[in-house]
Amino acid sequence: METLSVRGKDFVAQKPTFFDVLGDLWDPKFNPNGIVNIGLAENTLMHAELEDFINTNSKFTTHALTYGDGFSGSHNLKEAICHFLNNQLSPTTALNPSHLAITSGVSNAVECCAWALADIGDYILVGRPYFNAFKTTLGTRPDIKLLEVSFGDIDPFSLEAVQVYQNAYEEARGKGLRVRALILCSPHNPLGRCYPEHVLREYMRLCGRSGLHLVSDEIYALTVWDNPRIKDAPRFKSILSMGDQPVMDPSMIHAVWGLSKDFGATGLRLGCLISQANMALIEAAEGISLYNFPSSLADQVATSLLRNDEFVGDYIVKNRMRLADSYLFATEFLRNHGIPYLESNAGLFVWMNIGAAVQGDPITDHEVVERLRKEKVYIATGAVYASEETGWFRMVFAHPKDVLEEGLNRLLRAIDVSQ
Ligand SMILES: Cc1ncc(COP(=O)(O)O)c(C=O)c1O
Repeated sequence: METLSVRGKDFVAQKPTFFDVLGDLWDPKFNPNGIVNIGLAENTLMHAELEDFINTNSKFTTHALTYGDGFSGSHNLKEAICHFLNNQLSPTTALNPSHLAITSGVSNAVECCAWALADIGDYILVGRPYFNAFKTTLGTRPDIKLLEVSFGDIDPFSLEAVQVYQNAYEEARGKGLRVRALILCSPHNPLGRCYPEHVLREYMRLCGRSGLHLVSDEIYALTVWDNPRIKDAPRFKSILSMGDQPVMDPSMIHAVWGLSKDFGATGLRLGCLISQANMALIEAAEGISLYNFPSSLADQVATSLLRNDEFVGDYIVKNRMRLADSYLFATEFLRNHGIPYLESNAGLFVWMNIGAAVQGDPITDHEVVERLRKEKVYIATGAVYASEETGWFRMVFAHPKDVLEEGLNRLLRAIDVSQ
């Protein structure tokens, strides 16, 4: 007898493949034959500091044992996030708690946008390559489709790229498709770069002209560091700080942020949807907040963290230094072994062309993945991110050097056919 519904069976097929990686993680002492995970977007560089902060500062109250202030985050956390983001993102209009809905991770905040800004079968524009889970968060439950924009030789961070979006939008409209929004990942996952301010403004103009919502995923807002090889690379500019020259309807501008990346705390499951001029969107998110309700223990931990300016200030500085250091270590290794990559100064990634570096006869990405699996190192293939070219992979460098060294040596073994 069939035990699952049709959609239940679809969900089985969507179980993330990296769960196998997490079930057998390399540890030099306890699991030396395990898999080195330099593929999943996590930053472990500041774990010791955060662990210590949480263990020293956590004092939970019974409020955490209740439904709290509702399902969309406590008043205290909303205030703490506003305090923190007002300092870090310099929004044109200061954030206040009514602008936020707290969710259990940024994935859920993105999903709220899909539920509330688009209907089944509608489209959201996204440029290639893009963060793979947009397909899941926008598609799996809300049933929104991604309209992928290909750039060819055009730099995705240039003004020309905005025109490519415009063309894609018009073509879709010509075919009768309903396009509701454009999602930007700013700073970008997987390319690890920030959009220049004038380009962001042009995206806003495009959305304004076309009546599109602009969703800016700013989960890597503070994960920007100095890369001496690209000294002039743009720094991060939040969409919330661009209201001085209004070029689109402010009720169509939305941002998401959370603690998963900037605080290296994917397990806390805390994110937020921010919309400063669209109370209906926040209320819609509250309407489905039972499904996005973060744990009140996580809520209280995040509140004490974000209220502590001194700890947070030190954390950000140290995190940036360690990111810069690990990035240089990883990219020096790649340079020394002739593996091409694109420079970055944001996010946790090195976007590299393993296909171009493979010794001997050219092989497919699938074959590269097989070899990486055999050598027990996890690095995600570009196909997952809808890369326009084959050969590209996304490596995560935000780990201590011993992890990087082990993972990169395994990578070398995997691509050197003479071994
Ligand atoms: C751009 C982007 N948005 C959202 C997420 C999801 O974050 P969370 O773990 O808070 O759901 C990720 C995680 O990799 C990401 O890279």
